[in-house]
Amino acid sequence: MLKATEKIWHNGQLIPWDDAKIHVLAHVVSYGSSVFEGIRCYDTERGSAIFRAADHARRLLDSAKIYRMDLQYSLDQLTDAMIELIRANKLRSCYIRPIVLRGYGDVGVLPANNPIETYMACYEWGSYLGEDCLGQGVDVCVSSWTRIAPNTLPALAKAGANYMNSQLIRMEAAANGYAEGIALDDAGYVSEGSGENVFVIRNGKVLTPPLGASVLPGITRDTIVKIAEQLGIPVIETIIPREMLYIADEAFFSGTAAEVTPIRSVDKISVGKGVTGAITKAIQKEFYGIVRGEKADRFGWLTPVPVSSKQPVTV
Ligand SMILES: Cc1ncc(COP(=O)(O)O)c(C=O)c1O
Repeated sequence: MLKATEKIWHNGQLIPWDDAKIHVLAHVVSYGSSVFEGIRCYDTERGSAIFRAADHARRLLDSAKIYRMDLQYSLDQLTDAMIELIRANKLRSCYIRPIVLRGYGDVGVLPANNPIETYMACYEWGSYLGEDCLGQGVDVCVSSWTRIAPNTLPALAKAGANYMNSQLIRMEAAANGYAEGIALDDAGYVSEGSGENVFVIRNGKVLTPPLGASVLPGITRDTIVKIAEQLGIPVIETIIPREMLYIADEAFFSGTAAEVTPIRSVDKISVGKGVTGAITKAIQKEFYGIVRGEKADRFGWLTPVPVSSKQPVTV
């Protein structure tokens, strides 16, 4: 259950949590006209640090641009807002949720007189698919729902409306007793989970679907690619037939919420031996080492959140 914090950032001002309200006739409510982000701030040994803040801000700007939403804030302003918000709420670790939406005004589909509202909230959030799952892995299914198709809803935008498709995938998986569903794209190839990118490993090579397979350009996906490359593990972006999920040696999800979650079975067929494999473990170790500040931040992915303006914390 969501635990309220003190403040929410709205169009450049911090407002009380309970005041962050919109009208039921705001454009977003009827038409799903929002773009958003999900970012984690980790409690590292040297203070709190936001993971890949600028990359998330960039994706928010990209999502807004695709939908012709004129966002008034720059990449730096959005990053500064994240820091200001976390400090105001005095959280050491949290999940940050910026939302850009079309507000109250016209009621037709054409948003001619609807203001663009930018909100940013942060709150505590544990592991997405369950704490045990990071070690043991999750049991998933291939969804009967196809992922949003090219030239329908743009997959490169992280838009609220895309998550209607995600909800169908996730609810069906839950109804059938699975932790998550993996959707196939319009052509029948592996796309992604309802809220995660997918990786499979076969013969020592890491495979992940390309952006053309209707996947969100995940920041964690990019993180995994860079970590694997540095570990000397080959990564190939390629279309993946559904049955590759069944014969993979290892598989895992990546995402800000799911972090690096091993997949131990797909459609009740065990992935490899059904235990977290060596490559997944090696990637997990690097990932958590970096985000927790235990390993050098050699890619410059951590943005420190100073405790006070007089006490900058270096990470
Ligand atoms: C549909 C979908 N795919 C992939 C991801 C992973 O993206 P990221 O690693 O940027 O969180 C997410 C989460 O944001 C998602 O919702």
